[in-house]
Amino acid sequence: MTLARWTMTAGLILTTMLRSLAQDPVAAYKELFRPQLHFSPREKWINDPNGLVYYQGVYHLFFQYYPGDIIWGPMHWGHAVSKDLIHWRQQPIALYPDSLGYIFSGSAVVDSANTTGFGSNGRVPLVAIFTHHDPVGEKKGNIDYQYQSLAYSLDKGQTWMKYKGNPVLKNPGIVDFRDPNVMWYKPGKKWVMTLATKDRVTFYSSPDLKSWTKESEFGESQGAHNGVWECPNLFPMQLGDTTYWVLLVSTNPGGPNGGSGTQYFIGQFDGKNFYTGGSTIKWIDYGPDDYAGVTWNNTGRRKIFLGWMSNWIYANQVPTAAWRNAMTLPRELKLVHAGEETYLSSLPVKEMNVQVKKSVMIHNMPVDTLTDLSGKLHTPASQYKLELRADTLKDFFIVFSNTQGQQMVLGYEKASNRWYIDRALSGRTDFNKEFPKRIFAPRIGVTAGLDLTLVMDASSLEVFADKGLTVMTAVFFPDSPLTRLRIGTNGPWEIRQLSYTPLRSIW
Ligand code: FRU
Repeated sequence: MTLARWTMTAGLILTTMLRSLAQDPVAAYKELFRPQLHFSPREKWINDPNGLVYYQGVYHLFFQYYPGDIIWGPMHWGHAVSKDLIHWRQQPIALYPDSLGYIFSGSAVVDSANTTGFGSNGRVPLVAIFTHHDPVGEKKGNIDYQYQSLAYSLDKGQTWMKYKGNPVLKNPGIVDFRDPNVMWYKPGKKWVMTLATKDRVTFYSSPDLKSWTKESEFGESQGAHNGVWECPNLFPMQLGDTTYWVLLVSTNPGGPNGGSGTQYFIGQFDGKNFYTGGSTIKWIDYGPDDYAGVTWNNTGRRKIFLGWMSNWIYANQVPTAAWRNAMTLPRELKLVHAGEETYLSSLPVKEMNVQVKKSVMIHNMPVDTLTDLSGKLHTPASQYKLELRADTLKDFFIVFSNTQGQQMVLGYEKASNRWYIDRALSGRTDFNKEFPKRIFAPRIGVTAGLDLTLVMDASSLEVFADKGLTVMTAVFFPDSPLTRLRIGTNGPWEIRQLSYTPLRSIW
């Protein structure tokens, strides 16, 4: 073969290889740092979950998406679907920016009674209610550049049309006027929208999603106020025979460990006003990386939550290349009493069990200064669930590390009754000086012993303490998976039960 011929053939082979790599969806999810248990877009920038709605056996996940880069930009609604909340298939972009602006966060509902009139020939409309954000008005220094609009789908969420009468809720002169979250309020037979309006939420109601009446405001003097309020979500939940109303409100900055965080209120809602007592600020997740989370619509009494697993402090800087940022695990919410208070607990949805490989169980395991567990775990996995139970609770820490000595540390401090996560030595941390700071969370549980569940993925750790009363989510970027496991404590202690469950990749 001549040299020219050889070069051409080699070039052809290389091009074919590269092309098949680009087309191979599996290869695309194997990059360094790529979450193996969490939804992330195949490529480019992602932030808030949007339009979470369950319809005819399919969970829809729309999301803030910029298909042009791995930094935040003109917002679209990306789209993914799943039958089990675990395995996701990314779909074509659902909503593109238009003459009214970018497509910011919002929700989606099933309009079964065709209140909008969008339905035809018996086809039920799915309706998305979102914020149009006009970048031109913003640049001009106007204050009214965010307003609410509609889009609908007549093919079960596959394709979407914008409503010709947009916007349906004009801006009354409030700079931060966004993230409409809509639900059907059965007792009043009307739609209720919860909207983030700067330092509070405003409730509106509507018979048809097109004309909206202001009902009331909540929160000016309640909750955390070190940042702007965003992405609210109001829904009823049962505890025994009592119905409570839960209101989630994200705030940025001002989260429990700086930057982004999501607080919640438990109270009552009468179709007009939301009432709540108590002044303790409660966070759905005390870690730095769970923001803008909301729950799926149309799942009956079951409440399933999904958050964006990042923080606005460094979301645009984390060291991934093909995509940037991901979602948390879907979590089931429950109301629980602890001490004198009522809280929300969150735990990974039971559907996660489909990913389970064989568990390793260890009973009555003595631990002391630093006990290496790695030898006992058979095949160390890159992603797994770890559950620990003990009858007493004392100072301890778990070190998750790799051969390069990079590590995440999760611990408990008895004197201050706090959990902590330390990611200072977890790999790449220098992209933002806030990133390596130690993360703290109060222990809310009041039982005597330890009850801890955690899920480790390629670049995230989610901790659910006391059956999900205190939750902490933190991302990190190691050069190889943290498969080594050590437990340390300040004197003899016994773990009654440890279970280590490797989990299969969802891709
Ligand atoms: C929250 C948020 C929303 C807004 C969207 C824009 O993370 O700031 O308030 O709608 O992101 O992408």
